[in-house]
Amino acid sequence: MVPTPPDATAPTLGRHLETAGCPEDLRSVFKAAADACVEISAALRRGALGGVLGEVGTQNVQGEVQKTLDVLSDEICVTRAKACPAIAGCASEEQEDVVACASGGRFLLLFDPLDGSSNTDVTASVGSIFSILPRRGGAGPVTAADFLQRGRDQAGAAYAVYGPQTMFVLSFGAGVFGYTLDPETQAFRLTHPDLKIPRATREFAINMSNERHWAPPVQAYIADCLKGAEGPRGKDFNMRWLAAMVADAHRILLRGGVFLYPWDRREPSRPGKLRLMYEANPLGFLMEAAGGGVFDGEGEVLEISPTAVHQRVSVMMGSLEEIEVLRALHRS
Ligand code: F6P
Repeated sequence: MVPTPPDATAPTLGRHLETAGCPEDLRSVFKAAADACVEISAALRRGALGGVLGEVGTQNVQGEVQKTLDVLSDEICVTRAKACPAIAGCASEEQEDVVACASGGRFLLLFDPLDGSSNTDVTASVGSIFSILPRRGGAGPVTAADFLQRGRDQAGAAYAVYGPQTMFVLSFGAGVFGYTLDPETQAFRLTHPDLKIPRATREFAINMSNERHWAPPVQAYIADCLKGAEGPRGKDFNMRWLAAMVADAHRILLRGGVFLYPWDRREPSRPGKLRLMYEANPLGFLMEAAGGGVFDGEGEVLEISPTAVHQRVSVMMGSLEEIEVLRALHRS
C-alpha cells in the first residue's frame, strides 16, 4: 500500500495562529514552546542510539530521579524561552528557582519539559506541558512571586505528546487546536481544528493500585464504575492508564474520558502527587476550553491561588458528566 503523502496544504502552526487572531507576542511564545518540542521529539526518537536513555544520578526539586532526557528537555525549553523576546521569565519542574529571560517580555512560561519520563526507556508515550501567564508588575528581573497566579489567569496553555505521532495542542481561550509534526519538513501543521471533549464517556484513568489509599468519595466513584451496567451508573466502563498525565489528557481531548490523580493516604499532608502550576493548570485550561471539567475534590483547580511554584494538587479532569458525578459524591 502506498502511504498517503502529508497534507502540505494544511496551515503551519504559526500561520494558523495568525489567522485565528492570536496576538503576535503570544504567538511567539507558542512558537518558542513548539520549537522546543520539535527538538525534544528528535532527541526522543534517537533513543539508545543517541545515548539519551537512563538516569543522570541526580534528583529534581520534587525529589524524583532525573532521567538524561529530563535534563536535556529542560535545557532545550530554557534555551528557547531565553531566545524569545516576549518571555520575561520561565519556571521548570526540573529547576528549583525561576529563570530570568527577556527584560521587557509580557509573558511568563512554566513547563514540565518531559512528563511521564519513566516511559522513555520503554518507548511509551511522553509529553511536554506549558502554561503561559501574563507578566504583571514592574520590568525588573522576575521573581518567584510573579509566577504565583491562578490557572484562570493563564493567557494560554499547550502540550506536546510524543507517541506514534508528535502532536502539539494549544489554546489561548478561543478553541483548542491540534497540530501534527510533519516528519519531513519538521513543521507542525493543523490537523485537529476544533477539539471538543464529549460530555459522556465510558472510560476512566486512575492508578488502581492505590485504591486502598483513596478518600471515600473516590473509592465510591470507582466502585460504581466497576459495577458496570448492573450498577448505579447503568453502563460498563473501560480503564486506561498510560503513566504519563499528558498522554492520558490527550486521549481524553480526542475521545473523552476522565483522569484522576486524587489525594491519598500515603502522604496525608500532601494535597496530591501532580504539580499545580505546570501540569494541572495548563491541562485543566485546555480541558475547560474543550468543554470538559476540572476539580480537585474540594473546588476549582483553576481558582487556586498558588503559594509556591512547585506546589502539588489533587486532580480530576475530563468529560463533564463524570466531573459532575465526582462533585456530587464529594459534596455528600
Ligand atoms: O508527573 C507525574 C506523572 O508521571 C504523571 O505524568 C503520571 O500521570 C503519574 O505521574 C504516574 O504516577 P504513578 O507512577 O503513581 O502511576
